[in-house]
Amino acid sequence: MSSPTQDPQQVPSPDVTEDPTGGRTPGASDDILLEVRGLKVHFPIKKGVFIDRTVGHVYAVDGIDLQIRRGETYGLVGESGCGKSTFGRAILQLETTTDGEVLFNGTDLASLGGEALRTQRRHMQMVFQDPLGSLDPRQTVEQLLLEGMRAHGLVMGGGARERLIELLRAVGLPRTALSKYPHEFSGGQRQRVGIARALSVNPQLIVADEPVSALDVSVQAQVINLLADLQEELGLTYLLIAHDLAVVRHISDRVGVMYLGALVEEAEADDLYAQPLHPYTRALMSAVPVPDPVVEDSREQILLAGDLPSPANPPSGCRFHTRCPWRQETRCDTERPELRVVQIDGVPPSQRVACHWAEQIASGELQPHEVAVTLTDPTATESDHDEGLFGPASVIEAR
Ligand SMILES: Nc1ncnc2c1ncn2[C@@H]1O[C@H](COP(=O)(O)OP(=O)(O)OP(=O)(O)O)[C@@H](O)[C@H]1O
Ligand code: SF4
Ligand SMILES: [Mg+2]
Repeated sequence: MSSPTQDPQQVPSPDVTEDPTGGRTPGASDDILLEVRGLKVHFPIKKGVFIDRTVGHVYAVDGIDLQIRRGETYGLVGESGCGKSTFGRAILQLETTTDGEVLFNGTDLASLGGEALRTQRRHMQMVFQDPLGSLDPRQTVEQLLLEGMRAHGLVMGGGARERLIELLRAVGLPRTALSKYPHEFSGGQRQRVGIARALSVNPQLIVADEPVSALDVSVQAQVINLLADLQEELGLTYLLIAHDLAVVRHISDRVGVMYLGALVEEAEADDLYAQPLHPYTRALMSAVPVPDPVVEDSREQILLAGDLPSPANPPSGCRFHTRCPWRQETRCDTERPELRVVQIDGVPPSQRVACHWAEQIASGELQPHEVAVTLTDPTATESDHDEGLFGPASVIEAR
């Protein structure tokens, strides 16, 4: 899906003097648009009637490093509650980060304030899961589109209406849509309005947070295809967030798999789908249906035991150890694995895995076993855990 060339003829640029460097810091890598280093977002948990005291933290994002190249689509997948949206929002500086850096075009966004941050934000736009909730119901499409452009000083001189019509054409809506309100559209059309709004300020990066999850299956493919076409026309870069691997499969150049606030595997999309290496990725992959019934019957089926543990009380060591069918007596519950290049024949260095035993699992030296489900209370914090409230409960099949 990489398409780094931008054709300004397709959606005319706003009537404004563009920065010829596109906001790029001199000396920054031409290839990397976004670089995230050691990003953490911990939400404090407060308790108390008269005085709020912090009794723990939700470790929503807990140490993510990743890079997104110009013109690529990076698919980020993981279960509900693993921190995907928090990560997406933190990139746009919509969440206060606890630690780490977000470099956009080589500039650390946390070092910017006021006007400088606002200028950078124009280059990064978000498309949300629920287009109805994210569009003001009292505004017409015209007002919605103009709002962002005005906020960034992009409506100057004539040509605004032509640009709005061009934007609608780009997302497959007629010009008559301009005078309509969000509730007058179907879900898929509303998401097209949401995409047009993101495009209205000529961004470089679009963070699309579950952009098709709320849509009918038949419409999902249309919206994904639209995103792919726009990328080719406009040279956009995407961070595409989804909770299942099937959605990101055809559009992503690279995929990152997230579990409890961190990446457990990252690879070129084709490599990941050909040979998922982390036990969690293998479990997610085994949940993606295959159209061929013969392949479907013979392929690996991994049923994940239990729910996602609470991010307020994450497991020690490897965060996946409470549900992992390959968990070992040593290291798994004491040592947090790093995302690392593995020594497996045919696996390129671009495929990195956070598992101590990736090589032995891939070779078959280690075999999966049953998993004892650990009961977790979603409201528990670390301090509750220290008091020994929770423990193993029952056993279910893992394979
Ligand atoms: N403002 C907040 N304050 C406290 N906890 C929060 C806040 N926002 C998110 N969380 C918690 O952080 C964790 C990660 O939430 P997040 O919304 O990022 O997950 P997600 O992967 O996007 O899930 P989903 O697939 O359901 O959208 C969750 O446990 C959530 O309850
Ligand atoms: S480190 Fe251990 S618990 Fe974690 S994924 Fe690998 S085998 Fe499973
Ligand atoms: Mg989310």
